[in-house]
Amino acid sequence: MIIAIDGPSGVGKSTVAKLIAARLGYRYLDSGALYRAVAWKVLTTGTDPAASDAIRGLCATTKLTVTSTAGGGMVVEVDERPLTDELRTPKVSSAASQVAALPDVRAWLLPVQQNFGRQAGVRGIVAEGRDMGTRVFPQAPVKFFLEGSSAERARRRHAEFVGAGQAADLEDTQRELEARDGRDRTRESAPLATAPDAVIIDTSRLTTDEVVERMLRIIERKTAALR
Ligand code: C5P
Repeated sequence: MIIAIDGPSGVGKSTVAKLIAARLGYRYLDSGALYRAVAWKVLTTGTDPAASDAIRGLCATTKLTVTSTAGGGMVVEVDERPLTDELRTPKVSSAASQVAALPDVRAWLLPVQQNFGRQAGVRGIVAEGRDMGTRVFPQAPVKFFLEGSSAERARRRHAEFVGAGQAADLEDTQRELEARDGRDRTRESAPLATAPDAVIIDTSRLTTDEVVERMLRIIERKTAALR
């Protein structure tokens, strides 16, 4: 069972995906963390995030592993180094959306995502990102597209930064988020788009619990129809 959740930055995808994965006993796939891991390697090696040839070479010599952790988490390791907070900086966010526009990077990460959860004992996965329902798991029987105004999404993202003790300005956060959305929606390779069979939910005026409950009801209905 694959549940695909797509949508722009800061719309609450990872929060609800983790909660749904925990409720259903499924694995959680944070596909954005993979693009962030590539961006982290690009930045730490001083590579230009737009230099496609250099980045193709970098991918070929990088060991990337993804593992699920107890309680619905996911850990990415680059060359055997686990990365967590390093992946959440504004610099890495911005570079991630630049490297994500490169077809070679997307092709390199495609099997990593599609093979995630293909192990004995895995009942299902909740995969979130930009192209889960359109490109990576087009066969997923349940797809969601979460939406929300950029002002509300920036407000939430800013509160996360502040909560994590990082210095951040609300206007800068909104500008950065809109720039990233623009790149994600307009790139040629697997742009952020709504799958025709996705259920669209506007999260702007809903609490996390309301979004999760609404999604769980839809999952229950759609999976019952498959039985
Ligand atoms: O979801 P998150 O904000 O962590 O993603 C970081 C960046 O990775 C996005 O802005 C987007 O450019 C890219 N991404 C993508 N496709 C995905 C997930 C993320 O292009 N499935």
